[in-house]
Amino acid sequence: MSRTRTRHRRSRAFFLAALATVLATTGGTALAVSDGAGGTAQSRAAAARVDNPYAGAKPYVNPEWSAKAAAEPGGSAVADQPTGVWLDRIAAIEGVGDSMGLRDHLDEAVEQGAGVIQLVIYNLPGRDCAALASNGELGPTAIGRYQTDYIDPIAAILADPAYANLRIVTTVEIDSLPNLVTNTGSRPTATPECDVMKANGNYIKGVGYALRELGAVPNVYNYVDAGHHGWIGWEDNFAASAQVMYEAATTEGGSVDNVHGFVTNTANYSALKENNFTIDDTVGGRSVRESTWVDWNRSVDELSFAQSFRGQLVSTGFRSDIGMLIDTSRNGWGGSERPAGPGPTTDVNTYVEGGRYDRRLHMGNWCNQSGAGLGERPTASPEAGIDAYVWIKPPGESDGASKTFPNDEGKGFDRMCDPTYEGNPRNGFNPSGALPDAPISGKWFSAQFQELLKNAHPSL
Ligand code: BGC
Repeated sequence: MSRTRTRHRRSRAFFLAALATVLATTGGTALAVSDGAGGTAQSRAAAARVDNPYAGAKPYVNPEWSAKAAAEPGGSAVADQPTGVWLDRIAAIEGVGDSMGLRDHLDEAVEQGAGVIQLVIYNLPGRDCAALASNGELGPTAIGRYQTDYIDPIAAILADPAYANLRIVTTVEIDSLPNLVTNTGSRPTATPECDVMKANGNYIKGVGYALRELGAVPNVYNYVDAGHHGWIGWEDNFAASAQVMYEAATTEGGSVDNVHGFVTNTANYSALKENNFTIDDTVGGRSVRESTWVDWNRSVDELSFAQSFRGQLVSTGFRSDIGMLIDTSRNGWGGSERPAGPGPTTDVNTYVEGGRYDRRLHMGNWCNQSGAGLGERPTASPEAGIDAYVWIKPPGESDGASKTFPNDEGKGFDRMCDPTYEGNPRNGFNPSGALPDAPISGKWFSAQFQELLKNAHPSL
């Protein structure tokens, strides 16, 4: 794309952003507006959305998750929290077995008098290319089925006027686009599966299609997955990831107007705020960036990452009014292991090791982490640039099986979920830190739920 075109798109985005601000301050009710730039119906719909779909809106509580949480000892303390509804296969649209389908959830949301519902769009071809635990039903080339059998029916249901008064938040394709940057080509972390998805373009095409089709529904708010700080917070991943996200949003005639914001830390464990050290601290003349834990990352925690990545996204061409979501379902790191203050200033490593809340053995660990706790309860507008803290990953649902489990969902056995595993290049060859005896991803894992309750921070 030529520079001129980029500039043209940006200035239109800025105009729309200004318009959205006006609409937000006037209650966001004006519908018949022109964007003055020959805008499409899509961009007018985008302008009519409220700035923050979480503001002043009662969130939908998924009764299926709620019942599982309430059935656990101590679980009733959180069973009324809103969690993400994962559409993790085509059958989930109608409902797998006797579980609720998409319409059931939307009807129930209307019944609850909810103002906002959170869906997870999660079924790309060749899903989870750098791991095995959440491989899906669609092979790498199944882009056609993704479009016609998955996204199209979802978009049709969401467009039903019966749901027009719900703000429908869609978090789009967790863990997909960053994989194209960090786990391909000459990177030591590259996998053949991610190389295939980069070469065939089906992650970009799939995400682009989802954003266009869902974004055409005026009350849908698309938030694209943006990994977490312990993944794309490094210099060589940061701008490149924003660029891939821009490419996906604008592919095949798509527009940044279909992107309301981004979600970070989904199903991950990165601490929200590390209060005991900042990226600017030095010990004995050495920056905390030089510590083994931080390892030259640009951010020490998820909040600072989400805010700075937001700036990067805007300068890459996304609208200046985008908002960020942070999944705080399992990043609390409370309990007896939580440091009460900064570590000793013997050297930069003792300082960071003694002070960090995130107790993982390595930031690359992602499966059923031992010692993790529930994080901040879902909250609207908690910090500048952040639309909400959300619980997209439903606490108590496994990240992956700790041994081979036969299943018909395409899910594999990833040794990052095996507590005896000694690691790979993506976690610096550290032990996995995973809890034992875990079922396949998405299944209820009582021992993990108990661990999350015990280590909740803020405590319950
Ligand atoms: C799984 C999904 C599940 C989701 C929420 C993912 O890791 O692959 O099947 O719905 O987690 O628990």
